[in-house]
Amino acid sequence: MIKVITYGTYDLLHYGHINLLKRAKALGDYLIVGVTADDFDRERGKINVQQSLMERIENVRATGIADKIIVEEYEGQKIDDIERYGVDIFTVGSDWKGVFDYLKEYCKVVYLDRTEGISSTQLRSERQLMNFGAIGDAPYICKFIKGSRLVDGMNFVGVCATKANSFPKCDREFIVKKPVPQFLESVDAVYIASPVDKHFEHASVALANKKHVLMESPLALTRSECAKLFEDAKANDCVLFESIKTAYSMAYNRLLLLVKAGKIGKVVSVETTCTSLISDDKSDLSAAELKSIYDWGPTALLPVFQILGTDYVSKSIVAGYFDNEQKTDAFTNIRFVYKDAVASVKVGKGVKSEGEMIISGTKGYIYVPAPWWKTEYFEIRYEDSNDNKRFFYQLDNEGINYELVSFYKDVETKTAVPHISKEISLEIAGIMEDFDNGVDLTEIKI
Ligand code: CTP
Repeated sequence: MIKVITYGTYDLLHYGHINLLKRAKALGDYLIVGVTADDFDRERGKINVQQSLMERIENVRATGIADKIIVEEYEGQKIDDIERYGVDIFTVGSDWKGVFDYLKEYCKVVYLDRTEGISSTQLRSERQLMNFGAIGDAPYICKFIKGSRLVDGMNFVGVCATKANSFPKCDREFIVKKPVPQFLESVDAVYIASPVDKHFEHASVALANKKHVLMESPLALTRSECAKLFEDAKANDCVLFESIKTAYSMAYNRLLLLVKAGKIGKVVSVETTCTSLISDDKSDLSAAELKSIYDWGPTALLPVFQILGTDYVSKSIVAGYFDNEQKTDAFTNIRFVYKDAVASVKVGKGVKSEGEMIISGTKGYIYVPAPWWKTEYFEIRYEDSNDNKRFFYQLDNEGINYELVSFYKDVETKTAVPHISKEISLEIAGIMEDFDNGVDLTEIKI
């Protein structure tokens, strides 16, 4: 019996796939089809896959062509599979010509002509075209432009900059010189990265114009404004997504799951630190943009609220100011007391510290080295260091690509579970409000 093996993602199964499977089967007597796992696709940069692994497997099964279906989970697995199943022929479409010649050492390799004029990429792009733009001046808008090019169906139309000179030169070509309301006419969805004190205004206009909104955190500077944005989004049937890149990082998400699965026992303490020093030229930045609490607070608060919840018993905030800068906190420390746990958040734009995260539990602790918010690596550490475990998950474009895919999918299906819950968005805005109103706040000179 001649055994043939082939691999693919088989997203939105189309006649190109079926042609390939039929011809692969015709090369022998028994066909094994390897369907790529979601994580493996993401690792190799296929971030857009629309259907889940189970749906894709079901589609391949329904063709009735495959004799056996397996899941491809890791780089190098093809060699293992060929040896394990005693495969005689490995085959894929001609778009891979040459790539798998190294398998000739193990079996025969055949590249079959690809069917012209059809691909999953094309089908995904045709499903729904989203004209996507940005409002604001933050330098990281460039990374969102880059990321949006990788999302099938997303078409980046331009940036409505709100300041004259701050946008990085490399992307000046994207700047659209129109007032915000006119700019909004050209988009279906918008990423807002304007100065934080303009967030509410810009998001309100966008939602009133029925545009979906992906917005840098905090969504607003008071609880009531934040709640109003969620009401506006609901009333206008729009998606409102809070953008904290860390929430979309694979390592961070896996870490949360391990915590929930009790790997470190009961969590008793969460400590996060996020700091960065601003370059000397601050002339273009408003007082709001210089505040440590606005800039780093949401990121540093995220794991505290995601792990311990928002129902803390008390909090105390200590904000440190330099003598000559009355309005902007150079360093802020927030301590939370929960019924059965504590948390500490340190943020700074005028003070530098180790940007690590430590989550302490009754059985062990999780250590995430600096910069934890761009985490690719973390460790679970136990009393007996032989039991320690290390985890590594690659992070592309700081999590932005996957954030954009999630946003796009949510707009398309409106069923996605947001990575950051509404309750947490409201609490983050609430902390900003309490800070500004001096609630639970002690100020010190540093
Ligand atoms: N294939 C083919 N003809 C096409 C599309 C795909 O022969 N028009 C083959 C590929 O060469 C591969 C298999 O089908 O051997 C599975 O390909 P997959 O990557 O899942 O499909 P694509 O449509 O190429 O997906 P994408 O656009 O995401 O790359």
